[in-house]
Amino acid sequence: MSTTLDLGLPDRAPLAGLPARVRIHEVGPRDGLQNESVTVPVEVKAEFIARLAAAGLRTVEAASFVHPKWVPQLADAEQLFPLLAPVAREYGDELRLPALVPNERGLDRALAHGVREVAVFGSATETFAQRNLNRSVAESLEMFAPVVRRATEAGLRVRGYLSMCFGDPWEGPVPVAKVVEVGRALLDLGCAELSLGDTIGTGTPGQVAALLREFAAQGTGPEVLAVHFHDTYGQALANTLTALQHGVTVVDSSAGGLGGCPYAKSATGNLATEDLVWMLDGLGIDTGVDLAALAATSAWMAGHLGRPSPSRAVRALTH
Ligand code: HMG
Ligand code: MG
Repeated sequence: MSTTLDLGLPDRAPLAGLPARVRIHEVGPRDGLQNESVTVPVEVKAEFIARLAAAGLRTVEAASFVHPKWVPQLADAEQLFPLLAPVAREYGDELRLPALVPNERGLDRALAHGVREVAVFGSATETFAQRNLNRSVAESLEMFAPVVRRATEAGLRVRGYLSMCFGDPWEGPVPVAKVVEVGRALLDLGCAELSLGDTIGTGTPGQVAALLREFAAQGTGPEVLAVHFHDTYGQALANTLTALQHGVTVVDSSAGGLGGCPYAKSATGNLATEDLVWMLDGLGIDTGVDLAALAATSAWMAGHLGRPSPSRAVRALTH
């Protein structure tokens, strides 16, 4: 079946002031699947990750070493990593397969499976910190400190996530100063990169610009920041473009728009990687991703989940 891609669309039309290249941090196998009620067999997860790598994605967040009762879908991280050995061998250092670790127990499990990159995940709000980590914001940072230190000493790269940067389903608006304070605390622990999460997707471009300006004013430039938008209110692409205009070059997204967070009501799918790549391709920004192969992968995964992909680009390209 021929698609608009076969016709050479999207036509290239660059905009001034945008980066030449964007690194996509693919979160489908982790953020995407963690909220799915259908349990996906571990072999299917491994194939999903291999297909994402084959489509050109070079950072694929693979799993979480959290308490299995908290996120049952990801309880098979120990079984998954050995199945990823062939794809890890095929792409070598080019392919990053990070995993979430909340605490030292999680780090120990990740280290035992040769994971080379981990992420801790904090919250800008107290309510979500309690619900997601069973701790206050300050206690979570204390929990992360030895994780980041030990991981760094072991030669791992550590990413910090910060949730609820643009709105919280229990507390409402979140002060920019609070987001910057907790975000900088995560960087000060030794995280190499900070991903700013719009966990419930309520943020709009003016907020994104204001937050990035405040980080810059406090001495944190866009080179250490990533953006992580959920698309609940259809704002993710507009917010992403705003972040790119402010110098951010790392964007989180999820193949097929899978996703959500089991501990934040009203969090739906992440920005779909296909929708993102369509926009970036149109802007002439290099991602290394083969959109046709990626859309086919998401259509295949939608079959396993028993429902169509919420991504507009996947639907347009595969129907
Ligand atoms: P807790 O109950 O306070 O843990 O949970 P604890 O330290 O009191 O330990 C209780 C028991 O759990 C102990 O076992 C520990 O060994 C065990 P016992 O001694 O009673 O037999 N335990 C573990 N077992 C396996 N792996 C571990 C682990 N840790 C403790 N790592 C905890 C605290 C952090 C563990 C829990 O709250 C948890 O697992 N939370 C994870 C929640 C989660 O994964 N949420 C989704 C990811 S965040 C997200 O999606 C947002 C993001 O996408 C960005 C955005 O969108 O904003 C990143
Ligand atoms: Mg998320």
